[in-house]
Amino acid sequence: MKIRLAKKSDKDTILQFCTDTFTWGDYIDRVFDIWYQEPDGELLVAEESNDKVDRNLNGNSVREPNRQPNADGNNTTITANLITNTATNVQPIALSHVILCPNKKRVWIEGIRVKQSFRRNKVATTLIDEMLQFGRRMGATEASAIISVNNTASRSLFEKKGFNSVSKWGYYNIKLHGNKHSRISVSNQSKNELKVRIAAMDDLDNIWDYLQCSEIYRLSGKTYFEAWRWYYLNYEKIVDFIKHQNLIIIENDNTIIEGVAITNYTGYWDRAEVFQIVYLDSTSTSKLRDLLFYCIDLYTVSLSDNKKIYDNDNTRSHQDDDNSNQLQIISYQTNELLEIMNNFEVIDSAQFLLYDLSL
Ligand SMILES: CC(C)(COP(=O)(O)OP(=O)(O)OC[C@H]1O[C@@H](n2cnc3c(N)ncnc32)[C@H](O)[C@@H]1OP(=O)(O)O)[C@@H](O)C(=O)NCCC(=O)NCCS
Repeated sequence: MKIRLAKKSDKDTILQFCTDTFTWGDYIDRVFDIWYQEPDGELLVAEESNDKVDRNLNGNSVREPNRQPNADGNNTTITANLITNTATNVQPIALSHVILCPNKKRVWIEGIRVKQSFRRNKVATTLIDEMLQFGRRMGATEASAIISVNNTASRSLFEKKGFNSVSKWGYYNIKLHGNKHSRISVSNQSKNELKVRIAAMDDLDNIWDYLQCSEIYRLSGKTYFEAWRWYYLNYEKIVDFIKHQNLIIIENDNTIIEGVAITNYTGYWDRAEVFQIVYLDSTSTSKLRDLLFYCIDLYTVSLSDNKKIYDNDNTRSHQDDDNSNQLQIISYQTNELLEIMNNFEVIDSAQFLLYDLSL
């Protein structure tokens, strides 16, 4: 087996074994081109000679197993699949991506996929070794990855390499129903005499002080979510979020900050507009709820402001309109958040563990 950088021409072969990876499918088809071009990263491929790929060689074809367990451990029936060998005598059997984070201290590991018939042969282990080497070469001091709580194979793989789980994250994709939520928001706000608002630059030091004392910030590994990667929520990043009016605070009548939410509307991968809460932090369920509803109110207003523009834009598809009624919340998993989510129509949800390793 050889590990090398991916070529554009690998894509089709790779996508053949990256379709039914999880119960919901896979996302490699949406990121391959992005990862291939991304600077500061390496898209790696493990390749194997065709005689190993085709252990049961039958003419020019490889017969894949009829039944393959998926990553969640459930059995999925797959119709016998004939793959024609190419003229070359090697082909990709695994993929992974590593990228140096903007702080230059951390590498982010993602997208490990090993073709079913090559699993439990240390292919993923070798890819991780290669990605850690990349990190060291780039001067990074830590490596991180996010793994679904249910993905026992991947968790065991990373734990064997010495990674430790540093925080648990909840992902909720919820359906928004018009201004139903905003009414709750307003009533709660007046009752508790708490003020929720978009943070200004004058709030910067108070926000930073709040985070330094926040248990949620510590438990979040001091990170926030962006396009399925977790980055450090440092002072500079807070400045950036305030500048872009993406940071919301809740304060009591003594103007003491009691919670923080960070929003993002920019989307990721091939999705241009996705409304997300990428960090959520407060001391109580009611304050979390107020923060959440305030963010929803802001989004609803911006949506109605933009509606006229969208209405005149014939290129906007139905799919986009459906997405505009959804909110993705990605936050450190707490019982308070779970409780709030019970009041919403949750389209899908998952839990993830953030893993770290010192290099
Ligand atoms: C998870 C995955 C990448 C592992 O690839 P692999 O090449 O089989 O892994 P390795 O052979 O290097 O395994 C190393 C260790 O990981 C653990 N492991 C790997 N597969 C496992 C499984 N199915 N069940 C339990 N532990 C597993 C074991 O501890 C293993 O060591 P061992 O074989 O000595 O017991 C592969 O199963 C896969 O592609 N799964 C689908 C995609 C996926 O979940 N990617 C990770 C997303 S974060």
